[in-house]
Amino acid sequence: MLLIIKMGGSILKEGASNDLVVDLKKVVKKHKVVLVHGGGVEVTEIASKLGKEQKFIMSPEGFRSRYTDKETIDIYTMVMAGKLNKQIVLALQAQGINAVGLSGLDSAILKAERKEKLIAVDERGRKKVIDGGYTGKITQVKTELLQLLLEKDYLPIITPIALSQDCNPLNVDGDRTAAILASALKADKLILLTDVDGLMLNGKCVPKIVATEVKKVLPKIGGGMSTKVHAGLEALTHGVKEVLITSGTAKQPITLTLNHKVGTVITNE
Ligand SMILES: Nc1ncnc2c1ncn2[C@@H]1O[C@H](COP(=O)(O)OP(=O)(O)O)[C@@H](O)[C@H]1O
Ligand SMILES: [Mg+2]
Repeated sequence: MLLIIKMGGSILKEGASNDLVVDLKKVVKKHKVVLVHGGGVEVTEIASKLGKEQKFIMSPEGFRSRYTDKETIDIYTMVMAGKLNKQIVLALQAQGINAVGLSGLDSAILKAERKEKLIAVDERGRKKVIDGGYTGKITQVKTELLQLLLEKDYLPIITPIALSQDCNPLNVDGDRTAAILASALKADKLILLTDVDGLMLNGKCVPKIVATEVKKVLPKIGGGMSTKVHAGLEALTHGVKEVLITSGTAKQPITLTLNHKVGTVITNE
């Protein structure tokens, strides 16, 4: 099977945990894997140390995103494609996994359209149109390099930065990147590793839910998780058979979620 696994920034404070990497080592013996990582918190912390306080905006749909101006995209690229991506490569190499760190810029794996304008909603609900900065929406995935690497049993680790039409780096969402890569590579499963047990509804983790049902409860799902559910639904629409959302900090998170022992499984039916 081909698995696309996204590791949330929320679980990457000290890089990828040992339990997770040991589990990954087992998983890659049987399956091909592409990793995508987040890392927003670390970007925010380092930006702040550099004297660049980060601003976040809320969209009318309730998505929170980083306001990415020129200085911010430079810091974002340094921290994400530099520090975090290489920390994960090191953790995997330490276990003998042949990891290759890449960003969406390399061989134009991810092409995106710059968001010209964004609508930001303030605390009082007032809407304001602002410049889109260096944020983008993925429009095209070039899978050739990834296919080559997968054929030869390398494990690509992708930083969610995409190439704009005018060859600038654009900040793109990590969950969406994982979902779009899963669709483009015709992956069997999309696994979203985060810092909670799975999709929580009424205080409990939902073990299994179908797409039509999860769409109905979307308004009840908050910030970070709602992005994952949207991304998951997109992957299911494009032929991915299962979306698994689970905690990346538990023991054997990938093995157990593949066996439906932990986390939330979302399927078409
Ligand atoms: N219904 C929900 N079920 C689970 N998590 C939720 C829900 N609503 C909001 N969340 C939040 O979503 C977070 C996960 O998203 P996020 O913080 O973006 O993590 P990641 O770094 O993995 O992308 C959880 O820690 C939780 O606070
Ligand atoms: Mg997130």
